Order: sequence, then structure tokens, then C-alpha cells
Amino acid sequence: MKESTNNVRPNGSPEQSAVPVERLQQQILCAEGFRSRPPGNRGNSRRSDGAAMADDLRNSGVRYRRLFEVAQDGILMLDASTGLITDVNPFLMHLLGYSHEELVGKALWEIGLLKDIAAAKAAFQELQANNYGRYDNLPLKSKGGLSVNVEVVGNVYNDNGETVIQCNIRDITQRKHAEKSGQRLRQAHKMEAVGQLAGGLAHDFNNLLGVILGYCEILGERPDLTEPARKMIAEIHNAGTTGKNLTQRLLAFSRRQALKPVLLDLNEAVNRTVVMLNRLLGDNVTLVSVLNGSLGTIEADPSQIDQVLMNLAINARDAMPKGGTISIITSNVDIDEASAALYPPISPGRYVMMTVSDTGIGMNLDTQSHIFEPFFSTKAPGSGTGLGLSTVFGIVKQSGGTIGVYSELGHGTSFRIRFPRCDRAPAVLQPATEIPLRGGSETILLVDDSNPLRQLTRMFLETFGYTVLDSGDSGEALRMAAEHPGPLPLMITDVVMPGFSGPMLAEKLASTRPEIRVLYTSGYTAEEFSQDVSPGDDSAFLTKPFSRDDLVRKVRELLDVPVPPARRDSSVRLAG
Ligand SMILES: Nc1ncnc2c1ncn2[C@@H]1O[C@H](COP(=O)(O)OP(=O)(O)OP(=O)(O)O)[C@@H](O)[C@H]1O
Ligand SMILES: [Mg+2]
Repeated sequence: MKESTNNVRPNGSPEQSAVPVERLQQQILCAEGFRSRPPGNRGNSRRSDGAAMADDLRNSGVRYRRLFEVAQDGILMLDASTGLITDVNPFLMHLLGYSHEELVGKALWEIGLLKDIAAAKAAFQELQANNYGRYDNLPLKSKGGLSVNVEVVGNVYNDNGETVIQCNIRDITQRKHAEKSGQRLRQAHKMEAVGQLAGGLAHDFNNLLGVILGYCEILGERPDLTEPARKMIAEIHNAGTTGKNLTQRLLAFSRRQALKPVLLDLNEAVNRTVVMLNRLLGDNVTLVSVLNGSLGTIEADPSQIDQVLMNLAINARDAMPKGGTISIITSNVDIDEASAALYPPISPGRYVMMTVSDTGIGMNLDTQSHIFEPFFSTKAPGSGTGLGLSTVFGIVKQSGGTIGVYSELGHGTSFRIRFPRCDRAPAVLQPATEIPLRGGSETILLVDDSNPLRQLTRMFLETFGYTVLDSGDSGEALRMAAEHPGPLPLMITDVVMPGFSGPMLAEKLASTRPEIRVLYTSGYTAEEFSQDVSPGDDSAFLTKPFSRDDLVRKVRELLDVPVPPARRDSSVRLAG
């Protein structure tokens, strides 16, 4: 029998020449805690050493077989010269769903266990050449077609004159799933942190942009302006508007937009957007929609759903420079506990799913892992801000949904969005009516801790005839309200302020001035709204930066409501 040599390769893996099987059995038995009889303990036996050795050998053979049978890892024995399977243990048969007869006598690549036949043959040749092989992640396919990820260690040794390969196979499917779930959770935390940052920045920018845009509006209307000055003001206004759009998208990403969710038929939203998209997409792009006739209702802001569709469709168009097809498919899907566990953060439940697919260039895995991050773009400088998908991500999340991407380079991309399904009928959407620009003579309490913005708002209101009591401090605002002798039908207040927040101020005022209506202004939705106090009506919120006309219309609209709206049943969803 050949002696074994166990060297260690530079990479740390043992390099083995054919090891005698008895030595290997002995090693296994010792490792498993079986004690073999000490060599010196045979003195009392009348039997010859030869018979005792035969006994030892038989016993160790039985034990070895038992280990093979009860092992909780798969063990596969191959003929080292042909690659044919010579034995397989019950664990592996159970794992892969094959019987002993179906496996023994076949080569690995004949059975269809390994999808990649060429790779399987190459691995076998490597084993033959090196007497050792380790494969950390082999995707096998069970007889039932299920994918099983395994880790394989193959050793070549000599078994009674025959060279065999023993493959120890460990099922790592659960470990892989856990790793994937961990990756998804880490990604979710990263997005959360970036969202916080983006939301904070957007908040401060909104106040600044409000002042820039507001004074541009006032200046632009002055009759004494020279033409060049008017043009310069228009340029400042344009730049400010671009900034406003950017901040809006950042806010959408950080899920701090003020949404106006309604019960919505997603099919209707798709049909409405398809009309617009057909004009935008160009002749070489075909748009197909396959809409489920009994689709459940979702709760979302219609204008935001339009945004989602527009962004996805425009990205799809850009990914198909030579043309192609975009398909939008809607369906109902139910997700059970088991599926939800595999795809965090999806929870089990009933969903309405919208899939937007294209036949474009696709994306590699690295690109896919960044696409929802703000400012990530692979487009040429100046062609993309990298905020399209971040906006989509934020809108979907704020609406209680989830989004996933499936893409292959050269084979197109598919986005799947799932919204929670509700059983109520969709609301009938009324077309927006244009409210005339009208002022009034009422007295308005104005509270905002940003001085320049408060002065500007005051100027807007006074231009339209209102009397304004203004303060940058909520405590002082309460005193002003108490001291004001006449009626005070409206308060316009910022949401986040030092001292009392806007909603807290409104609560305090409600006891002394029950008639007061409240118009909240905010650059973003504040935590205060989501926690305890919500504005009373969907018309009682104005997103910063607002234009003079938006403000004046909203003010008149509120003042004209005969009964103050009940503040607590809001239809504005704020903060996600
Ligand atoms: N359907 C798609 N096919 C291939 N790649 C896509 C697709 N959709 C998005 N991407 C990739 O994701 C990146 C980010 O998309 P996102 O919409 O956020 O930004 P953008 O399109 O580059 O710029 P913006 O939308 O702000 O104009 C894109 O630059 C592109 O690389
Ligand atoms: Mg885009």
C-alpha cells in the first residue's frame, strides 16, 4: 500500500496524493470520537494478531459505513478515472431527490445536477490532476428542478487498489439566503441614512429658494425695469425653479413629500400616462400595456404615480437607443410568509403589482446595486441628474410599497413595484379647477422662523389687501392672537419651529380661537405631523417654496370655507 504524503499548498489547501483508505477511515473515526483499540492491549487474546487486525478492519469498515449513512452532509463517491458515481449517501439522495439507482453508474454531467456541463467536466479534470478540489458555491439542480447551492470538497484516494474521489457536499442554500437578506437590509439602512441627509438639505434649500423665487416674481412685475434687467431676473427665476425641482426630487427620495393619497385604480393611472408617454417616447419605441381586469385598489397620490411611470418609461426609452418595446403589466399578487422571508423588506400580504419592462441594454450587477441612490447616473454629464429612480423609490416607499429590479446586460430590464391592495372601491377623481386669484381684507396671523421668507409672505398677502400679524416665534404668536381684539380667521404657520411646532401652536390656539383655520407651510413633511397632530384638510397644506399666486389662491380658498375643517381627520399623508 502507498504511504500518504500530506503537504500544504501555498494557498493553504492540503495537497494530497492518493491516501490509503484505511488511514482515512481511521482518521475519520478518531475525529468523530470512536476509539480504536490501543495497539499494546492485545496481550490476553489467544487469537493471532492477524485475526485481531481482521476484526479491527471489519469493525472500522462497519463504523465507516455507519458514518457514511448517517452523515448530515452529502457524500458522493466517484470513480477517479471515469467520473462515474460509485456510491452516494442517503443525505445527498434526499437533498437532490434522486434514488440510489438513478445516480450510481452515471457521470455527474449526465444527470443534469450541474447546469454548466463544461464547468462540471473541467472541475472533474482539476480534481484528477490535483487530487483535491474545493468549490465554495456550486449551483446544483434537484430532480424536482429546485436550485440547491452547495459547497463541495473533493479528495482523491486509493481504496483497495482503486483510485476514488470522495466529494463532501454541504447544502448552503439557507446561508446564501441569509447573506442576501443581510445585504438587502444593509442597503435599506444605507438608503435610510442618505434619505435623512437629503431631506435635511432639501428643507433648508426650500426656504432659500422660496425667497429667491418670491422676490424674482415681485421684481419681475415692476414697470420701471429695463429689458436687460427683466431678462436677468428671468434667468435667476429659471435657475431657482431648477433648484426647486431638484429639491422636490430629493424630498421625494427621502419620503418627506406631502402626499395626497386617494383610493386609486392603477389601471386608470397607467392609461392616463400612456397617452402622455406615447408623445414622449418617439416612433421607434412601442408601448404595450397588459392590464388585469379585476385589479385591486391601491392608496396612492395620483400625481406621484404619474411621476413613477414617467421616470421608468423615460429610463427605458434611454436604454433602447435603437428602439424596442416597453411593457407595463398590472396584476394582483399574494405574498405568503415563506416568500416574504426571502425578500425583505416585503411583508406577507395582498399586493397590486406593476411591472415595467424594456428590451434595452440592461444593467450589470454593480450598476443595479446603485440605481436607487440619489445622483447615481451612467448617462453623459448633463444628460441625467441621477434622481429619477431615487424619486421613484421614495414615492413607492412612502406609499407603503416595494420596488425591485431584474436586469441582464443585453437582455433588458424589468422593474416590479408592489403596492398594498385594499378592498375599497377607487375614488372618482375630479379634474382640478382653476381658482381665481382674489384677495381680501381679513386679518391673518403669520408664523415662520425664517425672517426673509416671513417678510416675503407678508408682502404677498398685503399686496392682496390682507392685514398681517407676523412673528418668528410661536410663543409670541400666541400672545399676539390673544391680544388681537378683532376676528382672526386664518393662521399661516411653518411646521417645524423652535418652541412650539406649527401643529402644537394650532392646538393651543383652537381653545381660544375656535374659528381659526390653519394653513401649514413646510419644505418637507415633519415628524410632528405623523406623530400626533395632523392638519385638518387637504387644502390646508402648502409646500415650500410656494409662489405668490399659489399662496393667495390657497388663502382665499380656506377663508371661503364656511365651517372650519375638523383638524384631525386629515387626508394629507405626511412623513413616511
Ligand atoms: N431601464 C433601464 N435600463 C438600463 N439602465 C437603467 C434603466 N433604468 C435606469 N437605469 C440606470 O440607472 C441609472 C439611474 O437612473 P435614474 O433614473 O435615477 O437617473 P438618470 O436616468 O441617469 O437621470 P435622470 O432620471 O435624473 O434624468 C441610469 O443612469 C442607468 O444607468
Ligand atoms: Mg432617469
